[in-house]
Amino acid sequence: MQPGQRTDAFRPVLRGEGNRFDPTARAKPILVFENVHKAYRADAPVLRGMNLEIERGEFVFFTGPSGAGKSTLLRILYAAELVDEGRILFMGRDIGRLTSTSIPFLRRNIGIVFQDFKLVPNWSVLENVAVPLEVLGLPQRLIRSRVGEVLERVGLAGRGPDLAGTLSGGEQQRVAVARAIVGEPALVLADEPTGNLDPQLAVDILGLFEDINDTGVTVIFATHDRSLLDIRPRRVVVLDEGKAHDVPHGLDEVAEADEDSGDQPGVAVRDVA
Ligand SMILES: Nc1ncnc2c1ncn2[C@@H]1O[C@H](COP(=O)(O)OP(=O)(O)O)[C@@H](O)[C@H]1O
Ligand SMILES: [Mg+2]
Repeated sequence: MQPGQRTDAFRPVLRGEGNRFDPTARAKPILVFENVHKAYRADAPVLRGMNLEIERGEFVFFTGPSGAGKSTLLRILYAAELVDEGRILFMGRDIGRLTSTSIPFLRRNIGIVFQDFKLVPNWSVLENVAVPLEVLGLPQRLIRSRVGEVLERVGLAGRGPDLAGTLSGGEQQRVAVARAIVGEPALVLADEPTGNLDPQLAVDILGLFEDINDTGVTVIFATHDRSLLDIRPRRVVVLDEGKAHDVPHGLDEVAEADEDSGDQPGVAVRDVA
């Protein structure tokens, strides 16, 4: 994105509370997971001592079978769930210890995209994308120009007045991406964002997240769709048995390691790495 004058005017308005985060946070990983445990039921833990670091500006796939805990992990990141044990540092701050007044600040730094778009179908595209800025009470003129810029970035220039529900699935997901990035978050979370789209549209949407990542935004893209992981080399983190494992040599090695190691695939993956 070209940082035009309007965008320059936009940032200070949005970042008015920015100094509430530790100024040294820039040099730290954007996310650190330390021994994270999470169970909805005591006899079926989802996360069991998960450790992971994500640097600023990374693009990371979270993968693993249905039920592995991908969505749970993302919900913990935007403070919709609490961890049972361990901690997650976002820009150096423990998400689990944020006070209720700090949680909105966390969410302002995170954009989220879901599989089912979660748009209001009888609102215009413009109204849907403007929501995060309306919440901040920004002036209407600023909101309009900012939303216009973002719609252009996602390939929907001029579609602002259309009702969201009248757009195609791929277009609706572009609207959702626009809404996720309109507030210039440091981190974008996508939970199976291509799950409702056919394969070519899925690749297009992945490309959109890559464009966002190229502007310096950290992206976590949760998917169980292996075909997306193979498109180009990317950091791939597999959630397995409640732990996170980097798979630097691709998913095929996980399958091979699985076969070798019986019921402890996670350990084998780490040995491979
Ligand atoms: N709100 C919830 N209450 C109880 N169990 C849940 C809840 N959300 C998820 N689970 C369970 O936690 C496990 C992980 O789910 P989820 O995080 O949705 O996995 P994924 O996104 O990888 O498919 C599953 O067994 C799921 O049934
Ligand atoms: Mg899920």
